[in-house]
Amino acid sequence: IYQWFMRSLFNLLKMKFIDIGVNLTDPVFCGLYRGKQKHIDDFEDVLQRAFAVGMDKMIVTGGSLSESKESIKICKENEKLFSTVGCHPTRCDEFKTDPDTYFNDLQSLLACEKVVAVGECGLDYDRLNFCSKEVQLKYFERQFELAKVSQLPMFLHCRNSHQDFMDIMKRHRSKIVGGVVHSFTGTVEEAKEIIAQNLYVGINGCSLKTKENLEAMKSIPSDRLMIETDAPWCDIRRTHAGFEHVSTNFPTKKNWEKGSCVKSRNEPCHIVQVVEVMAGVRGEKVEDLAEIVYNNTNKLFFEST
Ligand SMILES: *[C@@H]1O[C@H](CO)[C@@H](O)[C@H](O)[C@H]1NC(C)=O
Ligand SMILES: *[C@@H]1O[C@H](CO)[C@@H](O)[C@H](O)[C@H]1NC(C)=O
Ligand SMILES: [Zn+2]
Repeated sequence: IYQWFMRSLFNLLKMKFIDIGVNLTDPVFCGLYRGKQKHIDDFEDVLQRAFAVGMDKMIVTGGSLSESKESIKICKENEKLFSTVGCHPTRCDEFKTDPDTYFNDLQSLLACEKVVAVGECGLDYDRLNFCSKEVQLKYFERQFELAKVSQLPMFLHCRNSHQDFMDIMKRHRSKIVGGVVHSFTGTVEEAKEIIAQNLYVGINGCSLKTKENLEAMKSIPSDRLMIETDAPWCDIRRTHAGFEHVSTNFPTKKNWEKGSCVKSRNEPCHIVQVVEVMAGVRGEKVEDLAEIVYNNTNKLFFEST
């Protein structure tokens, strides 16, 4: 009944969303937390809750060769799911043993019709313990080749590495079709530089934590914005700046219960909260912002030129 209610409510508002970053290969969506089966596999419920609020498509993040294969497999099961293919900065050591084979294996996945982006790739200087700067730089740059040969847009990650990221981007920008810098947590100035390269900026709960985050998000023209949940991470919390703008809440339990979300696990239905906070902070109507963002996303990922 709850889902029926949500579906009617959201149909009424006619809002449609595309979550550009959701990690559905994470085992928590099968009830497995840190190797422990905590509850039944409720993957289908998670999808249905998202569809009930108007989720039109989701782009599942592939963060390595094996994860990209897994993601494609999941996407083949549902017409609304699409995948990225690439190697996350923290996983770039995987290139090292046999870089050409790893690269070719990634490239061979790009032909699949479910693949809509090259990524997740980029730089992450907050987590150099997983992979050194040198290796990250080398294999981030190499993945531009994938974007050039496939002419697919890029799904990009940039954490505490803005200058190096922009340097590499500027060298290659003219040869790629475009891209989105997801999970943006940078400054107003950094957002300006990204936009100047004609790229999009992806906003999730992690992008809306502080007053400075909100200011940066507000400075971005709406025709450059995309939205994501980054589920199972980056949920919007009570303590976050901008929480007051959240108006849609879902029944949520600490321990799993049929029909409820789980407190420690962000899931894609929360995409509506991301738009609510954004629209609230920007002083725009939720439906208007949702439509613009939806069109932006379709244009980059789903309307092939
Ligand atoms: C997705 O989740 C799995 C399991 O937690 C993790 O190993 C992987 O790095 C995540 N991928 C991305 C792109 O965040
Ligand atoms: C979004 O795209 C639809 C279909 O192309 C169009 O009718 C609508 O006017 C667009 N909305 C905005 C806000 O650009
Ligand atoms: Zn990321």
